[in-house]
Amino acid sequence: MTEYRLGVIGDPIDHSLSPQIHNLFAEQTNLKIDYQPYRVLSENLNSFVKDFFESGGDGLNVTLPHKVQCSQIATSTSPIVDIIGAANTLKSAKRSKDIFAESTDGNGLIQDLQEKSKIGSANILILGAGGSALSIIPSIADCLPKNILLDNRSQEKIQPLIERFNNLTINNSIIDNIDHFEDDIDIVINATSAGFSGAFNWYRDLNLSKKTFFYDLSYTKDNSKTPFLNWAIQYSDNYSDGFGMLINQAALSYELWTGIMPGTTINKSDLIND
Ligand code: ATR
Repeated sequence: MTEYRLGVIGDPIDHSLSPQIHNLFAEQTNLKIDYQPYRVLSENLNSFVKDFFESGGDGLNVTLPHKVQCSQIATSTSPIVDIIGAANTLKSAKRSKDIFAESTDGNGLIQDLQEKSKIGSANILILGAGGSALSIIPSIADCLPKNILLDNRSQEKIQPLIERFNNLTINNSIIDNIDHFEDDIDIVINATSAGFSGAFNWYRDLNLSKKTFFYDLSYTKDNSKTPFLNWAIQYSDNYSDGFGMLINQAALSYELWTGIMPGTTINKSDLIND
């Protein structure tokens, strides 16, 4: 049986759940994989990636802070990577010099979110204007929501983000000034790192209601709520953290490498309490 040589690169990497997730996928799909976490410093990234693939590696997941640099190392890129300029998955044919870069983050989010809330024709507010926000916008736009609204603590970062989508029709549906937006907001997605070191608070009031669905791209490793969800429950009982996105983005990477889409019904306790 072919053994797939896989891994995840980042710095730090100790916290990564990817090895456990992919080993579960392998068990489930009856494939043999060797999936290792690699802590790689930025200055060693190019040579690490090149050596990994030239010595027979099949695929790598990429996490912070290497997503942008990996999109540049690749010899070919997917349409989403071309737009967002970042990649979370690399693939190469055995011992080839050609490296293909993909980003499965946005579609991983969509696969999870659409099981929990209706995206088509919804007004979707994204909080944040950094790399995480950028990486999900094309996939959200593909679902044809009514509007994509952007808000960010530093207002000056919103317009440059929208300009990245200038040549795409989705630019028309992105609203950068929500001050006068009167329609209901159906979904709020937290794409900020606010709350990483304490409680989450938004810098201004938002027009949210009981019907709003709240989704955090961050997740906890247990049943506790993320700081964003602790803030969201003042409005609504409809919410989710990003654990499902984590599983789905991993599944899409696994499919890219092996051609087989694994099942994504995985609980936190399946991973953490191993
Ligand atoms: P990432 O790649 O995770 O998106 P990033 O590009 O550094 O990381 O972006 C972090 C995002 O979190 C930004 O939108 C940032 O807002 P600013 O542009 O105003 O810095 C947002 N963020 C971080 N801490 C925040 C806080 N305490 N309150 C509100 N927004 C915060």
